[in-house]
Amino acid sequence: MPRVLDGVAIAAEIKQEVAEEVKLLAVKGIRPGLAAVLVGNDAASEIYVKSKVQSCAELGIFSELITPPGNVTTEEMLALVADLNARDEIDGILIQLPLPTQVDTKALLDAVSPDKDVDGFHPVNAGRLQAGRPALAPCTPAGVIEILKRSGIAISGQHAVVVGRSDIVGKPAAMLLLHNDATVTICHSKTRDLPSITRQADILVAAIGRPGFITPDMVKPGATIIDVGINRITDRAEFDRFFAGDVKREAAFAKRGSVIIGDVHPKAFELSGAYTPVPGGVGKLTIAMLMANTVRAAKMRRGI
Ligand SMILES: NC(=O)c1ccc[n+]([C@@H]2O[C@H](COP(=O)([O-])OP(=O)(O)OC[C@H]3O[C@@H](n4cnc5c(N)ncnc54)[C@H](OP(=O)(O)O)[C@@H]3O)[C@@H](O)[C@H]2O)c1
Repeated sequence: MPRVLDGVAIAAEIKQEVAEEVKLLAVKGIRPGLAAVLVGNDAASEIYVKSKVQSCAELGIFSELITPPGNVTTEEMLALVADLNARDEIDGILIQLPLPTQVDTKALLDAVSPDKDVDGFHPVNAGRLQAGRPALAPCTPAGVIEILKRSGIAISGQHAVVVGRSDIVGKPAAMLLLHNDATVTICHSKTRDLPSITRQADILVAAIGRPGFITPDMVKPGATIIDVGINRITDRAEFDRFFAGDVKREAAFAKRGSVIIGDVHPKAFELSGAYTPVPGGVGKLTIAMLMANTVRAAKMRRGI
């Protein structure tokens, strides 16, 4: 039976450690602070930001929620970021994406001070990460590494295959695996004969954004599978293709009319040695790593 890597438990452990660090910093008169910027009324973004602000409160991190209107301009947003960059009580700046189309997202993310870039999206942090310098790494890939390490899964010398090359997941995940001495292959939509490559993986990271894309024929028996994907299924036929006979999911689908699935087919997990479930895997780590990055930013900025 494959081992299920419990993202909920690992995230709770990391949050506990962050709370301890916050207490130690409080003795020195330091309280890490996160500014969360939520533009407009996107329902999903509101839920994400709310849980980030709530996590700050639970861990003793100061947080400030800033909610510019949906018709805000790039100039107004740049002025807001400049203000947050300058404020000493703010250690981390989080701009919830996506932004309305009239706002130049790239210009805005580039305007965040790299030292307060707790999402790890700034090119300076991407460069620092690549160069192996102290950097604020993107939260989801950092979470992938934490899951592997805290589950006692060896990375050094293993062949890690990352499917997906986005700037926020695939590329930084590959870089972090490389720095942990894995042999890394990065695959993408132009990769030829993908299954022949994924079948070589000791550690297979799926960050594609396609429901159940990794099928059993793409997995080496005993491999560790890290499923980063979060996809919502609403179609009955598609549901049956993945989850026919799964009583728990059937009940969830009947209740909500949708279920979440990762980028890995449930049958592929059965071949693995260990895997992260969806939900309850990598997704749970992202906020925990945001909290960890905020404390890290507070310490780095003060030379601690
Ligand atoms: N908190 C979390 O757990 C978290 C955070 C972020 C993202 N996610 C999830 O992770 C998944 C990936 O997110 P993302 O932002 O990295 O997505 P993305 O920017 O859309 O990137 C997807 C990557 O998958 C590759 N790809 C697409 N179709 C492929 C195919 N047929 N064969 C091989 N590669 C293919 C693309 O290749 P090309 O570059 O060639 O187009 C691209 O590099 C999504 O499901 C997202 O919801 C979860």
